[in-house]
Parts: sequence; C-alpha cells; structure tokens
Amino acid sequence: MSNPATAPQNIESSLVENRVFPPPADFAAKARLGHPADFDALYKLSVEHPDVFWAKEAAELQWTAPWSTVLEWNAPFAKWFVGGQLNVAANCLDRHLDARRDKPAIIWEGEPGDGRTLTYGELHAEVCRFANVLKSKGIAPGDRVILYLPLVPEAAVAMLACARIGAVHSVIFGGFSADSIKDRLADSGAKFIVTADGGWRRGKVVPLKANVDAALKDSNGAVTGVIVLQRTKNEVPMTAGRDTWWHDETAAASPDAPAESFDSEHPLFILYTSGSTGKPKGILHTSGGYLLGTYCSTKYVFDLRDDDIYWCTADVGWITGHSYVVYGPLANGATVFMYEGAPDTPAPDRWWDLIERHRITICYTAPTAIRAFIKWGDQHPAGHDLSSLRLLGTVGEPINPEAWMWFHEKIGGGRCPIVDTWWQTETGGHMITPLPGVTPTKPGTATRPFFGVDAAIVDDAGAEVGPNVGGKLVIRKPWPSMLRSIWGDEDRYVKTYWSEFGEKGYYFTGDGARRDADGYFWIVGRIDDVLNVAGHRLGTSEIESALVAHPAVAEAAVVGKPDEIKGQGVVAFVTVKGGQTPSKELADALKKHVGASIGAIARPDEIRFTDALPKTRSGKIMRRLLKEVASGQAVTGDTTTLEDLGILAKLQASED
Ligand code: WT7
Repeated sequence: MSNPATAPQNIESSLVENRVFPPPADFAAKARLGHPADFDALYKLSVEHPDVFWAKEAAELQWTAPWSTVLEWNAPFAKWFVGGQLNVAANCLDRHLDARRDKPAIIWEGEPGDGRTLTYGELHAEVCRFANVLKSKGIAPGDRVILYLPLVPEAAVAMLACARIGAVHSVIFGGFSADSIKDRLADSGAKFIVTADGGWRRGKVVPLKANVDAALKDSNGAVTGVIVLQRTKNEVPMTAGRDTWWHDETAAASPDAPAESFDSEHPLFILYTSGSTGKPKGILHTSGGYLLGTYCSTKYVFDLRDDDIYWCTADVGWITGHSYVVYGPLANGATVFMYEGAPDTPAPDRWWDLIERHRITICYTAPTAIRAFIKWGDQHPAGHDLSSLRLLGTVGEPINPEAWMWFHEKIGGGRCPIVDTWWQTETGGHMITPLPGVTPTKPGTATRPFFGVDAAIVDDAGAEVGPNVGGKLVIRKPWPSMLRSIWGDEDRYVKTYWSEFGEKGYYFTGDGARRDADGYFWIVGRIDDVLNVAGHRLGTSEIESALVAHPAVAEAAVVGKPDEIKGQGVVAFVTVKGGQTPSKELADALKKHVGASIGAIARPDEIRFTDALPKTRSGKIMRRLLKEVASGQAVTGDTTTLEDLGILAKLQASED
C-alpha cells in the first residue's frame, strides 16, 4: 500500500519511477548552461535576488525608456519594470534586422503541402503593413481585436501588428464555434475581427468566416470591421461596409510603421481559458514581464541556437502558441517552423515527414499527441530520418512515463533530452522544467522550478509538506510573465487564484503534486479530479500511467464513482493500441496490473473500453464528463469545449 506516513488529508502517491537520464555529454558541452553548479548559482540568485536576476535578463531586450523599479508587488497585483517602455513587436522583429534580416523567421507548411518562408526582413515588412491597415481602420492602443485564423503565417503577422500599435489581441482557436466567438466578443468588447475564408483540417475546409458571420448575426454593430484572409478560396459572402479582404487592404499599405513605445504594463493580449465549469476566463497578460518571461524561458529551456529549426506544434489559439510559437522564439531571433493541419493527413507519418524534410532540430509537443502516435504504430516514425532532432519537449498534461520512453526512443533516437515543461495559461511561460544541459530527467516529472520560480507543495493550511507527500502546488513569489488579472473581473481573479492561500501571498495553481527526495515535482492531476477511495486521496495521473504502462493500452482516464462502502470507486476508461482487442480477460488483467504497480487501493473497480476519450480541443482529457458517465448520470456540464460530441453518446453506451 501507499506511504503510511501520509496524513489522510494529503494526496497519496506511490508510483515509483527509477529511470534517470542525465544530459548527454555532447549536449551539455555545447549548451548555454552545461554545468549544474552554474545552474544552482543562477537559480539561487534568481529566487533570493529576483530584482538582480530579472534586471540582467531584461537588459537583453530593447527598452525605449528605462524602468525605475523591477517589481512593485501589492499582492495579488504585480507591476514589473515600472516606468519602463518598449514595443513588443520591435523586440521580436526590428531588433534582429541588422544581424538576421535574411534569416528565415517563419518556415510554414500548409496541410495541402503548399508552403512559404518569411525572413525576418519580410516578416517585419508584413507586420508593418498590417499595423498600418489596422491603424487606418481606427484601431487605437488598448482596443481589442479578435483573431480567428488558421495556423498560417498571417496569424503571427496579425498578433505582432496588434502588438506594434498597442492593440490588445484575443486569439480564438479556429476549432471553436460561432457561440464561443460571440461570448468572447461580448466579454472582451472587441470592435474588430481578423479571420480567413477557411482553414484546412483533414482535407476539409473549416468555415471560419461563416462562423464569424453567425457570431455577428445579432451583435448590434459593435464590430465595425472584419478583415478576411483568403486561404481556402471557398465562396464566402462579404458584408459591404464591414468586410474587406486582407490582400486588398495590404496591397497599398506601407511596409514602414514606426514602432511606438508602450508602458511595460500595457495590456498585450487576452486569452480565454475554458476552465472546467463556468464562463471562460479572459486571462490578461501585459507587455514587458510577459515578453521577458517567454524570451528568457525559450532561451534557456530550448537552449536555442541560431541554426535551430524550432517547431512547437501548438496552435496560436493556445497560450503555448502565443508564448512558444510567436513571442518567445521570435524575441530570440529563432527560425520557427509552423504546420497548418492535422497530424494524420494525408497519412499518420505527416509529422515525421515534416521533421525529415525541414531538418527540424527541436520539437515541442503534447502528451496527447504522443499517445495518439503510439496508438497509430511505430512503423510511421520508423520510416523517416529523424536525425536532425536534438531536443524534444512536452507540455499540457503529466506525461505518462511509458509515453515519455516512447518519445525518447522512437523519436529522439535515445539521444535527445526531453524537457517536460509544467506551466499554465495563467503563468505565461515555463515554471517547472528541466534545463536540457544540466537537469537529469526522469520520465513523468517536470523536474525543478525555472529561474525566479518559488514553487512548493503545501497542505490545506498552506504549510509546506515533506518529500513524497502529496499536496497542493503553489507559487510563493510573483514572476514576470504572471497573469495580471481576469479581463473585466478583478474579483474573480482574486477568488480563483488567491483566496486559497492568499493570506500568505501564494498563487494557487489548482494542481495536486508531490516533490520527491531530489526536489523534483510530480504533478498528480487537477485537485478537482482527486479521488477519495476509503479515505485515501489519489491523484488521477499515477493510476492512468500505470494503465498506459500495460502493453495493450494506448490511453486511460480515471475517475471516481460513488461507492457505498469506499466513498468512491475507481473507474478507468481505456483505449487499446492498434491490434489489441478489448475483453473481459484484458479488463481483469488491467485491474491486477494496477494493483501490482500501485497498490490494492488504486485497483480499478471497473474498466470501460472505449474508442476514444472526450478531450478539450487542446487535447486535455475531460474527466468531469467521464465522472458523470461513470456514475450513470446525464451529462449536464458544459460540453462546448469538447472536441467530438459523438464520443459522449458512445461512452454512455459502453459497458464493463
Ligand atoms: C494545466 C494548465 C501550459 C500550456 C498548455 C496548457 C497541466 C500543463 C503540464 C506538465 C503536468 C501539466 C496542469 C496545468 N499541465 N503542463 N508538463 N505536466 N501537467 O495550459 O490549458 O492553461 O493548462 O495543464 O494541470 O495546471 P492550460
């Protein structure tokens, strides 16, 4: 059974992982930080004297007016680089023109196989043109602009053009519906939209413009203009006086747009996160601190070099796309690779084909994608030359150790370090992560806090717990890229993140975790998903990882269901790998397997096989819905972020 020293109110944790992977010597030899002692000294400085550490890092950016104070902290409200002024777009573009004018900034491939490369010089010109267009439409600093685009270079152009003129962008992921646009429009008070006729996804057109039209149907004319990028060339109606084409607007626009200076705390963007219940929260990020956080983490965590071809597979509709497709890498002068479409179009080896042809060196992706590739079979990556890769990364969920091992061996060829990065939309940038030249990694843990991050595991009273005791993950000091508020709802900001441990000035992440004897953080799942089985609190991720470690299993999601005796019983929803067949025998074997790897307390009472799990559009498993299915209730919660509605009906029909 689990750790007897664990107090009942703490989350128990007993999945043991003994594999350790030190940074490869040749990687460490070339890395920006390759000696653990250098890291330790710098980390110590960053948490003991954050002003000194961050001022030094910030000096690598271009400021047009100096700051007077690094941090002004009136908990829970932070101001970073008070009095400082900068232009975020100029830091991502103009600053590189002398040295990198002809270096590719974006190498893009569309789903149909078309492609485009924009050098820093070209990207700068495009951004200036579009900035001039926005200005000509009357967009002023502080105005909100909705961007609803496919993953094309123009998405980055539009974001940077907003930043250049001080407009606040709010990117809405292209997979969201007309209703989602409507809600976000109303909440943000945006008066302008940039969209496309459509985007390509699995050979089909995603009707972006039609969704915008539907969202605007009874919007009372609050939106004064819609600019439409022509991507898929499907017929779209244009509303006279409101809608215009991107190519018409930019044709005559000047490629010069002087970068104005904005206050360090000028809002940069609002990004809506769905959360599991309630209306989406508009997470507000500002300029100087956000740019610094993403610049600095991209530099150290990906150990970027000038000749890297860097690919973060996220869509710009997510924070990962903001921080690690656009702002972080471009602030570093990197070459960013972007791919528009689905990973299995035209075939399940599309990503490996992209890596081979574009000689990609860094690939940063999500555990959900890795588990899908495992399910599709090893033959797909095996058919490609992936030797250009030197570093891999993951984000979004705890990575199951077996998925980590697969990524390490089948994609990384056993030679690439993996950076498992823990962070949130709210944190803006990496918070807990290995640095590839110095941190020995272990499959399944995001390892140690990044510079300036004071993370801890605490009990319900806010007291730090000892090694290997589960509790709540908090951040005890402000950091530059932290959210500043929830747009238009300061009370909700305070309540959501600062009520639990606010008296102590701790930010509550909502995650449960434990810290091992080496100081490594293991995320065990969202606190809301924690199970209570016969008085034992169990996180979801360890039971799921134990299931995924079974050779027949591709993916697993674990939830509790009311149980008269135990309080909650454990129900596991499982998808099997290609070539495997669900059966009563397999279900029994899986129950035994979990019992043997974690302990009898975690043994599932029920295994339910399914073709697919309900996920958000960013790939996170929606355990909240599974909870309702498991207890035989009607699904009542919000399902608007569900990727495939059909899955619910199938799940409800599935049996033990
Ligand atoms: C939540 C934040 C950050 C960009 C993508 C998701 C989970 C994220 C990890 C990781 C374990 C992780 C946490 C976190 N999460 N990365 N490396 N290991 N869990 O952003 O939608 O704001 O979600 O994702 O539960 O709180 P998000």
